[in-house]
Amino acid sequence: MTSTTEVTNLSRAGDAFPPYPYSWYAVAFAHELGPGTVLTRRFLDGEIIVFQTASGELSAAEPYCPHLGAHIGKRGWVDGEAVVCPFHEFRFAPSGTCVSTPTGEPPRGAALKTLRSATTWA
Ligand code: FES
Repeated sequence: MTSTTEVTNLSRAGDAFPPYPYSWYAVAFAHELGPGTVLTRRFLDGEIIVFQTASGELSAAEPYCPHLGAHIGKRGWVDGEAVVCPFHEFRFAPSGTCVSTPTGEPPRGAALKTLRSATTWA
C-alpha cells in the first residue's frame, strides 16, 4: 500500500475555464514527509511547498512569501506549528495565516495562499 499527499487546484477569480481540471493531484509520497519537512514540488504551471508541522499537520501552499516574495521552499524551515520564511523569518501557520514576525505583530492580512491537502492511501 502506498500513501500519497494530494492537493487541489486553487480557484482564482476570473478563471472561468482554468487551464487544468479541478481535481486532486498527487504531489508527494508519505515517506517523503514527516514532522519538520518542507518540500518544493512542481504543480500545474508553477511550484508549491508542502510542509508538515511538529504535531504532524500537513499543509500545501504557494511558495512565495506575502511579505517580499521570498521562496519559502528555498531554505525555509518548520518551527513547531509554523513554516518560517528564510528571508525575514515571518512564520505561517498551516492555514497560511502569518502568526508572528521577529519584530512584532504580523502585518494584517499577511497570509500564504494555501491549497486543500490530504493524505490518501492507494
Ligand atoms: S520575504 Fe518572507 S519574511 Fe520577508
